[in-house]
Amino acid sequence: MNSLQKQYDLDKHTWDECAETYERQIVGGHPDILAFENFEEDFLDRVLRHLSQVQNRPVKLMDIGCGSGRLHLRYGAKTQHITCLPESHPLYALKQNVPELAFDPLIAEKLREVWGIDFSANMIGLAKEKLETSGLNGNQTIALTFEQGSAFDLNEQSDKCMPLAISLVNSIGVMQGQAGAVELFKSMRRAVEAARGIAIISCYQQEYVQSYGLGQYESTLDVSGQPVWMIPDTYASSQYRQIPKSYKLAHSKDLTLVVDVFNSENQLVKKGHQLQREPGRTERVIRTGDIDTYSEYKSHWYSFRKIDDLINEYWGTENSFHFKTKYLDALRAEPAQLAILDYGQHLNQIFKSWKVL
Ligand SMILES: C[S@@+](CC[C@H](N)C(=O)[O-])C[C@H]1O[C@@H](n2cnc3c(N)ncnc32)[C@H](O)[C@@H]1O
Repeated sequence: MNSLQKQYDLDKHTWDECAETYERQIVGGHPDILAFENFEEDFLDRVLRHLSQVQNRPVKLMDIGCGSGRLHLRYGAKTQHITCLPESHPLYALKQNVPELAFDPLIAEKLREVWGIDFSANMIGLAKEKLETSGLNGNQTIALTFEQGSAFDLNEQSDKCMPLAISLVNSIGVMQGQAGAVELFKSMRRAVEAARGIAIISCYQQEYVQSYGLGQYESTLDVSGQPVWMIPDTYASSQYRQIPKSYKLAHSKDLTLVVDVFNSENQLVKKGHQLQREPGRTERVIRTGDIDTYSEYKSHWYSFRKIDDLINEYWGTENSFHFKTKYLDALRAEPAQLAILDYGQHLNQIFKSWKVL
């Protein structure tokens, strides 16, 4: 078995294990991550609206590493008009409580399908559950579909639809290291090239590991495990759950983290246990962008330069764009970057108006 396949199998197990906590703590948790996800969603809304105006084909949105299906829920809801729903419908209440999920006529005009792929059966299970609870169980106006499988095996899409493939919130960083990143670039290109579609990779930058990354992983250690740069490792094993007292936000200077420790029977073992950064290991994470925890969780924050190299090598320069998201939104998207492959030059106009080119 080659090393990429071996890492794939290991990571698949890790993601199946952490699916539920990931959903609670990351998707609906850490404020900086939520802010960035909101930025990604607003960005995608704008792209979809623009595509509705500048091209004729229906759009197929492809969410690569779709996790618990936040795009399925968002666009399932945004393409459904509240007046078509009975008041007893779960989506009716959801739409009334969350203004962002209001009907968007421009998006609804062209978006025909949200398709997602993820290797974790548990993640896809959560996504389907979420759609079911929201009343998006087959009667909505667009198709909401999933496939359990590898992000590296995407099929070439037919040109009947315009494929818009997107990989969000640093999914590339958890896709089996640099060999996985290369496969993701190749696979997304294969999916959209013939149909003259768009591929977008949204990820963090290594340059922000110190100001954003360390604190994020530290204060979500109950999801992905105790970071290896935090000591002591007394409660780092899977026998214990360490629950942080608060989130560490961007630019925090705090080198410590206080947690309550619980055993597998959910009994409190130690209150106010203090972890602290080990300087040598912390320096290594900042220098390499390699995030490791005691639970075998691995992530990588790619430098701006490295993503540039991947774009040049696997997407070419003619149809691609690369920019720092802080130039679009310094408050919500300071630490990230967008890599974009746009075969039809569909997005030139908005990029020019945003002055990111
Ligand atoms: C950071 S999460 C993002 C989830 C979701 N896109 C979101 O924005 O909430 C990354 C997702 O990628 C999935 N994943 C990691 N490697 C994968 C691979 N090689 N193929 C398919 N899915 C993968 C994980 O199961 C996980 O759900």
